[in-house]
Amino acid sequence: MTELSALWRGEGKTIALVPTMGSFHAGHLALMGQAKQLSDKVVVSLFVNPIQFGPGEDLAAYPRDLQNDTHLAESVGVDVLYAPSAEEMYPPGFQTSIRVAELGDGLCGASRPGHFDGVCTVVMKLFQQTMPHLAIFGEKDFQQLAVIRRMARDLDLSVSIIAHPTVREESGLAMSSRNRYLQEEEMEQALCLYRAICLAREMVKASAAPLSAADVCSKIVKNIHTTPGCVVEYVAIVDADSLKSCSTVNKNSRLIMAVKVNRRVRLIDNAALVEL
Ligand code: PAJ
Repeated sequence: MTELSALWRGEGKTIALVPTMGSFHAGHLALMGQAKQLSDKVVVSLFVNPIQFGPGEDLAAYPRDLQNDTHLAESVGVDVLYAPSAEEMYPPGFQTSIRVAELGDGLCGASRPGHFDGVCTVVMKLFQQTMPHLAIFGEKDFQQLAVIRRMARDLDLSVSIIAHPTVREESGLAMSSRNRYLQEEEMEQALCLYRAICLAREMVKASAAPLSAADVCSKIVKNIHTTPGCVVEYVAIVDADSLKSCSTVNKNSRLIMAVKVNRRVRLIDNAALVEL
């Protein structure tokens, strides 16, 4: 992979990387499409990264379908689907970790300690291996995007980090490889996240004065809990860059949340609240 990237760079070609864990859906394919538009060569990495899964999480169950993913990547014109093995990525003796302290600690980081260290470490390795000019990340994983942006700035990486908006099902459900864990009736329950976003947006639209973020959050938590089987892990309104709590809702506020459906499937979603 590195030799190929060096060759492309020697020819003056620009390289875009889309890091993934596979099991592609239309969200992943949209990122690949954007990569194709922005650069000469598109590399998609497919690696279910063991070090970003905590004990008791779904590493073993995580959906894997390399054959179908290969067809899908080909169909949108990806140049290389780079799928290293865990042994290649983490040979015996591996012991380095990248940690973005504050941004990775709250929200999802609070219930998944070490998760973003695992993400940063693998993304840094993927950057080294594929030497991209730009890398595309989805807003679906908003905290991940913020953490990667911080890492790129803090470590002076010469990769431009590009955000792609969240791709949703017609129902509003944010696409996710983990939606495959949902049974049919759970798909309905999972809509409580999108409904919460709509509710928050309506509240903001209807109010002339700046809204208290705490009030909006408490209404949303109540609303989500009206859906049987859905339990809020967190609901927060944060500044989109610092991920610190906002006191009032403003243009840079982001509603961000994690909900467990039937104590089994953990779903995340987020959205801006003020129309620009
Ligand atoms: P994965 O969950 O496979 O997601 C790969 C990329 O697709 C991420 O940037 C994610 O934000 C984006 N994505 C997922 N669902 C999306 C949707 N509905 N709309 C838009 N973008 C979406 O995120 C990871 O893998 C890993 O943590 C990784 C960055 C690859 C590191 O292991």
